[in-house]
Amino acid sequence: MSLKSNKKAIGESHSKLILVGEHAVVYGKPAIAMPFPLKVRATVKESKGPIKFKSSLYRGYIYEMPNEMRGIEECIKETLNYLNKPIRDLHITIDSLIPIGRGLGSSAAISITIVRSLFSFYRQKLSKDILFSLVTVAETYAHGNPSGLDMIASSSEYPIWFKKGKESMTIKIREPFHIVVADTGRTGNTRRAVTNVKKRYDLEKSNIQKSLAKIERIADESKYALVNGDNNLLGKLMNLNQQELINLGVSDDNLNKLINVAINAGALGAKLTGGGLGGCIIALGRDLEHSKVVADELVKSGVEKSWYFSTENERLYVSLND
Ligand code: PMV
Repeated sequence: MSLKSNKKAIGESHSKLILVGEHAVVYGKPAIAMPFPLKVRATVKESKGPIKFKSSLYRGYIYEMPNEMRGIEECIKETLNYLNKPIRDLHITIDSLIPIGRGLGSSAAISITIVRSLFSFYRQKLSKDILFSLVTVAETYAHGNPSGLDMIASSSEYPIWFKKGKESMTIKIREPFHIVVADTGRTGNTRRAVTNVKKRYDLEKSNIQKSLAKIERIADESKYALVNGDNNLLGKLMNLNQQELINLGVSDDNLNKLINVAINAGALGAKLTGGGLGGCIIALGRDLEHSKVVADELVKSGVEKSWYFSTENERLYVSLND
């Protein structure tokens, strides 16, 4: 089949937040994640010669990409192989507002945009299953043993209930809720954090299994809180989840300090989000105005950046200060 190129194509995606359940999700427990509207876009154009790539991290040929971007190179190649197209004559540009390595799912979001833009460039329909299998190539390089949560949340417009290897489900939220996100400015290391949890699991199986079981209950009850619009309960559950993340060894003093700042500013709950060992925290505000107060307090305490927004019934977001 001969495929005609569009000469230029765009693919888009967004970042994600894990409300509850990170790390436990790697062990088959449920997690709840939601889209976070920091956007990323890939633009593909025709350009003779080896494939060129341009992003804030790297500019050059894909075959010379630094090691930490190998997953992206492989994802581009796999996608072109799938499309039966030569691995050349393209220029791919990434424009992203998602800070890298902060637990906001930037690697999954970038891979999603790349796959979407290449399919659009060659005017091919892209099913969710194919998207996920191609993005998994890159995510496996980035994480080692990804649960798949990042890529599903980064390609969804709604909060989702996720279990590894199972069909994810949209959660219908009853009441708007108000989220503050604060970036420590420190790059987390999901791969290292996941490996550390595994080591602890092997050394202290019963302790870690208890934590994982508690996180499972927290995720169940958080779903109940969202479906019933009980934000006070959701906040309490986020705090309980943070205690278990501390026990898993993926929080640190700086994250704990910032979480306390948010709680002292009246947040209903707060926890790290994503892999941990750096990255971001999330806090639950009482309303949008109060979320701004919490976000400001976090900036005063030294975070690199904070955002706050409200969900609006099922559709997200009424306001994002970016
Ligand atoms: O740090 P992030 O945004 O890539 O999130 C990782 C989430 C984990 O549960 C720690 C790992 C995974 O594969 O789900």
